[in-house]
Amino acid sequence: MLSFQGEHILSVNQLNRDAIEMIFAVAKRMEPYAKKHKRTRVLEGAILANLFFEPSTRTRVSFGTAFNLLGGLVRETTGMQSSALAKGESLYDTARVISAYADAVAMRHPDAGSVAEFATGSDVPVINGGDGPNEHPTQALLDLLTIERELERYGKNVDGFHIAMVGDLKYGRTVHSLSKLLCHYKNVKFTMVAPDGLQMPDYILDTVTNAGHQIELVSKMEGNLAADIVYQTRIQEERFPSQEEANKYRGGFKISQAIYNAHCKPESVLMHPLPRDSRLDANELDNDLNSNDNLAIFRQVQNGVLIRMALFALTLGVDNVVEKYEAEV
Ligand code: CP
Repeated sequence: MLSFQGEHILSVNQLNRDAIEMIFAVAKRMEPYAKKHKRTRVLEGAILANLFFEPSTRTRVSFGTAFNLLGGLVRETTGMQSSALAKGESLYDTARVISAYADAVAMRHPDAGSVAEFATGSDVPVINGGDGPNEHPTQALLDLLTIERELERYGKNVDGFHIAMVGDLKYGRTVHSLSKLLCHYKNVKFTMVAPDGLQMPDYILDTVTNAGHQIELVSKMEGNLAADIVYQTRIQEERFPSQEEANKYRGGFKISQAIYNAHCKPESVLMHPLPRDSRLDANELDNDLNSNDNLAIFRQVQNGVLIRMALFALTLGVDNVVEKYEAEV
């Protein structure tokens, strides 16, 4: 039987379609608790170590919120300088120490592979909250749940849908993880819209092609946004070799309501992992889209809490007893 009890969640490579569907089924059961219509104490007494060695708003706070909503407590470390990693402690030793204090760990780190390295020293489940340009598995799961729910509004399915991924597809880890997850579905059409130099890495393109999906690589938005889902990304300036190099791409691919009207379908759903860069010279997703019903960015945020609650319940082996520990609201 499929089980994540005691497992680390490090990469979407660990997931197949059955696993995705199981996580989504648990996530949907979390909705009354996330909306505070009901309360559960299923993780009362449990402690989450929420270790964020790279900037984050949503992932860090929603991991903490998800653990709290299940009745658990959260201890946080933010920034490399406030941890003993700054004194040369290894990720392995840090994990041995932290897992003596906590029942679960959520972690973000700027280096690819760092969260997996940390997990080798951890006796408790470790969930990857983003490791450099590599992966962001919980974001991919919340994106996929959002895609499924948004397509449902229009009577469509993930099998056979069309996604346009836009922007920095080279350094954007969320599109890497999402592309890999979509390989478990059928006949997905991908339009990869990126400037030369920021296209999707070949290893992801090969994985998508081997899954039997159709891919078109283009370097302009015009004429290429008529997809069911348009997934915009930020230029990941912090990952470029220099600011000068990043500046070459800044503001290259802006989507505004006027661009939406001209190049998207009336039912095209707009997604973005956030943060969107709202500085006027970047502004890849304009504030004038905020009243567009097809802007799903804040629904993605809500789905993120459900996914993270589900992963804690599954990895800590309490997914079957969440309702049994209901408390008064
Ligand atoms: N989507 C995402 O990872 O956002 P944060 O960087 O704010 O966590």
